[in-house]
Amino acid sequence: MKKVLLPNGLNVSEVALGAMMFGSTTSKEESYRVLDTYVEMGGNFIDTSNNYAHWAGTGDESETLLGEWLRDRGCRDKIVLATKVGFDRHGKGAGLKRSQIEYWVDESLRKLGTDYIDLYYAHTDDPTTPIEETMEAFDSLVKKGKVRTLGSSNYDTWRLAEANMIAENRGWTPYTAMQQRLSYLNPKFSVAPKYVFNEVVNRERLRFLADKNMPLISYACLCKGAYEDTSRLPDEYEGGARLEFIRSMAADKGVNPSALVLAWLTNIHRCEGFPRVIPLFSASCEQLKQNLRGLDLKLTDEELKMMNSVQ
Ligand SMILES: NC(=O)c1ccc[n+]([C@@H]2O[C@H](COP(=O)([O-])OP(=O)(O)OC[C@H]3O[C@@H](n4cnc5c(N)ncnc54)[C@H](OP(=O)(O)O)[C@@H]3O)[C@@H](O)[C@H]2O)c1
Repeated sequence: MKKVLLPNGLNVSEVALGAMMFGSTTSKEESYRVLDTYVEMGGNFIDTSNNYAHWAGTGDESETLLGEWLRDRGCRDKIVLATKVGFDRHGKGAGLKRSQIEYWVDESLRKLGTDYIDLYYAHTDDPTTPIEETMEAFDSLVKKGKVRTLGSSNYDTWRLAEANMIAENRGWTPYTAMQQRLSYLNPKFSVAPKYVFNEVVNRERLRFLADKNMPLISYACLCKGAYEDTSRLPDEYEGGARLEFIRSMAADKGVNPSALVLAWLTNIHRCEGFPRVIPLFSASCEQLKQNLRGLDLKLTDEELKMMNSVQ
C-alpha cells in the first residue's frame, strides 16, 4: 500500500481501516487478525470513535481494544490514529461543548493507552454550542499536544467553512480533513435529507474540498457489502446502471467489485473537481485481502472518465 502525505502533515496509507465493531460484534481474536493483516499489507490509518459501538455494547469497546492491540504490538508510533467526539452514547455525550470535548478526549486517551491522537474529529455538528467555544476547545487540545490535527464529520459545508473562518481569524487550529460518505454509487435524493445532505457528499461538497485542498476520508464506502451482494444496497444509494457497470468492469479486470470501488476512490483526485479521497472501510481478513487487490489496478484517464460518466 502506498502512503499519502496529507496537506495537514499526516502520512497515511492510501486506505483507512474502520474499527467500529472491534471488541463488540467482532471478537478480540478476529479484530487482532484484521489489524495485523492490515498493517502487514502496509496500512497505518485506523479509525475509531469515543462511542463505538454503543448500540452493540457500552461504546468503550473499540477504543479499549485498539489500546490493548497497540500496547501488545508496541506499534503506537507506526499508526495514524483517528478518533471522534460529539455523537450520542446511550443518550449521553452528544455535543461539542468545551466541557464535553475536554472530558471525552481524556477518556479516549486513557482507553487508547496513548498520550496523543493524530486526527481528532468532531463526529457531528452541534448547532446548540457556539462555534467559537468548540474551536477554541479543540485548539487548546492541539496546543497541549493531546491532538495533532482536527477533522469534521457529518458537517454541512457552510458550517465547516464558517468554523474554519472563525478559527483562522482567531489563530486557532482549523479542521483539515473531512469524514463523510462517498462511494461509487450515486446518493438517492428521495430518502431522508439527513443522509443526502449531511452524510453522503455531493458534487458541491467535493468541489469545496478540492478547492480547499482538504482530503475526504470516505466512510462506509463499500456500502455494507452491496457491491458483492446487491440485496444489501442501503436505502440512501441508487443501484441501477452504476452498480451493474462496476460489477461488470470488475469481472473484466478479474477483481471483486469492492476492489474496483477502492481503485476508483483512490484515483478520483486525478479528475477535475474531486479532492484526494482516503477510503475508510471495514472487512474480514479475507475480504481485506480481496479488496486491497484494487490498489494494484492501474486505471487510465479514459477508464476513470468512463466510470464517472455512467448515470
Ligand atoms: N463518521 C461517521 O459517522 C461514520 C459512520 C459509520 C462508519 N464510520 C467508519 O467507517 C468504517 C466502515 O463503515 P462500515 O463498516 O459501516 O461500512 P462499509 O465499510 O461500507 O462496509 C463494511 C462491510 O462490507 C462488507 N464487505 C467488505 N468487503 C467485502 C467483500 N470483499 N465481500 C463482501 N462483503 C464485503 C462486510 O460486511 P460483512 O461483515 O457483513 O461481511 C463489511 O463489514 C467504520 O468502521 C467506522 O470507522 C464512520
